[in-house]
Amino acid sequence: MGRWSLLRWALQLLKTLLLRIMCHFRSELHSSYTAQSLQIVPKYEPIPRIKGLPVLGTLLDIIAAGGAPNLHKYVDARHRQYGAIYRERLGGTKDAVFIASAQLMRSVFQQEGHYPQHPLPDAWVYYNKQHACQRGLFFMEGAEWLHNRRILNRLLLNGNLNWMDAHIERCTQQLLDKWRGQTAQAALLGEHYELPQLEQQLYRWSIEVLCGIMFGVHVLSCERIQDALTEFTQIVHKVFEHSSKLMSLPPRLAQLLRLRIWRDFEHNVDEVLQQGAAIIELCIGAQQTQEQALYQRLLAAAVPAELIRRIFVDLVIAAGDTTAFSSQWALYLLSLDSQLQQRIAQERALGESQLLHGLIKEALRLYPVAPFIGRYMPQDAQIGGHFIEKDTLVLLSLYTAGRDPAHFEQPLRVMPERWYQSDSQQTHQPHASLPFAIGQRSCIGRRVALKQLHLLLGKCAAEFQLQCLNEQPVDSVLRMVTVPDQTLRLALTLQTKSTCHNC
Ligand code: HEM
Repeated sequence: MGRWSLLRWALQLLKTLLLRIMCHFRSELHSSYTAQSLQIVPKYEPIPRIKGLPVLGTLLDIIAAGGAPNLHKYVDARHRQYGAIYRERLGGTKDAVFIASAQLMRSVFQQEGHYPQHPLPDAWVYYNKQHACQRGLFFMEGAEWLHNRRILNRLLLNGNLNWMDAHIERCTQQLLDKWRGQTAQAALLGEHYELPQLEQQLYRWSIEVLCGIMFGVHVLSCERIQDALTEFTQIVHKVFEHSSKLMSLPPRLAQLLRLRIWRDFEHNVDEVLQQGAAIIELCIGAQQTQEQALYQRLLAAAVPAELIRRIFVDLVIAAGDTTAFSSQWALYLLSLDSQLQQRIAQERALGESQLLHGLIKEALRLYPVAPFIGRYMPQDAQIGGHFIEKDTLVLLSLYTAGRDPAHFEQPLRVMPERWYQSDSQQTHQPHASLPFAIGQRSCIGRRVALKQLHLLLGKCAAEFQLQCLNEQPVDSVLRMVTVPDQTLRLALTLQTKSTCHNC
């Protein structure tokens, strides 16, 4: 080899080495893009970080602010202090990023990946693991989730869902008939009728609607199913109480210490899953095959019967409290405004009521039953001008976003008109209210729930005058979902005949 070719070979080697070093440096920089490296790359705006204690994070601050029941308000206060995006470690080992602006929330959904991953309550995950329990859609991940989600999207979200209407109508009318009969009796004594155990009644109604959609309303006339549903409503209702008590304690520790809160939770979930499965068996036995309900549709889509059972139990659990509490909030808002009740009744007599639509949107905006939606970022992401590393838990603060004056003018006022499609003066940002989330992992029951809410609220406005009897203003607390801080006391009187049309 000559001198020149030796030199060329040495230069080539040097170039290759340099390239390798640069590539290595670049990939290091990319993969370990921590807050430290953010300082090297000034184009990202830093995210305000709230300092906490080692291990405990800011848990003590949360406890001082009222603990888990007030978490939505605690986070709301943080947003007011630190802005639409900030980091905080509420406990555990990792920060979560909280986001409350319409634009940033949208950006998170756009980058949620093919298999969006949401945080699951620790107690439930631990229970499923301990009992080797396979669960429905909410707990599924990856390809299994996507496969089943696509099937359910076709049946519950997309296209024409009119087949559900008769089932929802029958269940809702039964509830309204009961209320009307009792209101008429009270009227004979010159009294109003105060709805007893409203929470339980709405719970029962939302579970019945779901059974109707799954197997046809016919099954609800079976006495054994009615008895089983009565028992099931009571126990499923307690799941959320037990789970919320475990929210600030690692379930493994609670189990090791044999704490009562864990034993109660475990016993309760055992019962719910067993009873739920038993109801499904009863319904399968009692259904009429010519009734085209969800069960037959899933069988026709080649979903194995065992998987259908798994999916159904979790649909019932997911539907029960979300729909029951959203309708409670909407009834509460309706009961505060007698003029609105009349205007809705009048509009409804002529057809669709835009006001009713707006009222339901307002209830979901002000009282989102899920006040936080979580996503683990599947890769490093740029959200607005901020950098968020892969695997970070991002929590979208729906409660705050829905009450932000930057999104909604006079945010605490109930203004159904703000949702009018034709209103060119819209001053709000509709995407700041996302009660069902958006994106691939959004609520599969959105259209079912909205159909239910429209029917119930519309019929109530048409048939009754509603009045709220609570003496103190009703506020929200978090018990897994956002619930009223006191028993809601609603009184009914019969609507005068002139406005009662289209019942
Ligand atoms: C007003 C009532 C309801 C509200 C406000 C609501 C809200 C939500 C929200 C925000 C999510 C998204 C959670 C996330 O992204 O991590 C969700 C998911 C879900 N919802 Fe609803 N929901 C309601 C009613 C229902 C009903 C009636 C059903 C059943 C028919 C249902 C079944 C589910 C299921 C199975 C998921 C998990 C979806 C998945 O992981 O792919 N929901 N819901």
